[in-house]
Amino acid sequence: MKNLLVTGGCGFIGTNFVRYLLSAKCKKTGFNGRIINVDKLTYAGNPFNLAEFEKKYPDRYSFVKSDICDVKAMEGIFDRFKIDSICHFAAESHVDRSIAEPDTFIKTNINGTFTLLELARKNQDRLLLFHHVSTDEVFGSLGNQGFFTEKTPYDPSSPYSASKAASDHLVRAYARTYGLPVTISNCSNNYGPYQFPEKLIPLMILNSFKGKPLPVYGEGFNVRDWLYVADHCRAIFEIMKKGKRGETYNIGGHCEMTNIDVVTRICSMLDEKIPQKNGKPRKDLIRFVKDRPGHDLRYAIDSSKLEKELGWVPEESFDTGLEKTIDWYLDNEGWVKMVIDGEYRKWIEKHYEE
Ligand code: NAD
Ligand code: DAU
Repeated sequence: MKNLLVTGGCGFIGTNFVRYLLSAKCKKTGFNGRIINVDKLTYAGNPFNLAEFEKKYPDRYSFVKSDICDVKAMEGIFDRFKIDSICHFAAESHVDRSIAEPDTFIKTNINGTFTLLELARKNQDRLLLFHHVSTDEVFGSLGNQGFFTEKTPYDPSSPYSASKAASDHLVRAYARTYGLPVTISNCSNNYGPYQFPEKLIPLMILNSFKGKPLPVYGEGFNVRDWLYVADHCRAIFEIMKKGKRGETYNIGGHCEMTNIDVVTRICSMLDEKIPQKNGKPRKDLIRFVKDRPGHDLRYAIDSSKLEKELGWVPEESFDTGLEKTIDWYLDNEGWVKMVIDGEYRKWIEKHYEE
């Protein structure tokens, strides 16, 4: 992989992935190529997350602001950078937004993936890999028992998960029909640094830090299988290096928790670090609110294929990962302020003359 196109690199997981690829740890495990990060910079994409690398590693990291649905622009990028491999993160990723406004989810997640697949097909002579980053939400909801395996039938519940399911099907179809060298990963809920504070964990960290209400949907009994983002990034890179072409790998943290337990744990960890001035426990801030429509009850991943075939195991437990995450949000006040005040949006508008 000499010229790796990373889409959506200014988002949460993409940022952590690029940082991982450029780290000394990763250099030892075999990536010395160039990264071309293409991101539209939607509300979820922050160009400051990786800006330092353009100066630090001018030969190894480039950023291009572009929409993956823009065929002409993407064609230019494939030609100019001689793209030979792709790791595709770019997507609209928030379930609640997909319920309110599904339109962009269909455009980016389905049409955007289609655009990239077509360009990959046209450049197939030099294409080594198209890795598609997907979600466990394509499988729908589990009851109280069982796990999602790679063979679980697709049964998506939200416009977000339906759009990701459609993109997965397209990627598989391109492998079978055109022989495109693809791998797909379906991962459970991630948490860690750089996550936009609309998702459960960063929202609860920042709200509880400020003494604001903590909205828990329904009764808080929905279960998610949490994975620290660095473990996800390592899994993706292992799949890209050693995964069998045409195959799908589930990624999960063996870490099932109800939402109410997650929120309570965040409250107690923050209480230990920085007690509230009024002396009250932060769990008093929890408010049970109207449930999400079509809210999947439980996700749980069987990642034994990845563990057995590629030797990957998660390194962080929920407590160690959560502590790192809380510390990151507390230590990065500037990032939090920029994201909450939308200052970086003003910078993007000025810089790119939107
Ligand atoms: P995110 O919302 O934080 O980041 C998405 C990035 O994609 C942003 O930088 C955004 O600007 C960019 N983007 C959106 N539309 C674009 C377009 N049309 N063209 C170019 N760039 C565009 O998302 P995330 O949480 O980092 O998720 C990344 C990928 O991982 C997604 O495909 C998501 O489905 C998948 N995933 C996420 C999780 C999770 O828990 N967050 C779990 C499993 C899989
Ligand atoms: O499972 C992987 C998926 O995880 C990814 O594909 C998605 O991109 C990612 O957003 C995430 O989806 P979820 O819907 O599970 O994540 P979210 O953080 O929005 O919600 C997690 C759980 O917490 C879910 O059961 C809804 C609940 N919730 C969420 C928010 C934002 C609340 O109770 N209150 C909240 O305010």
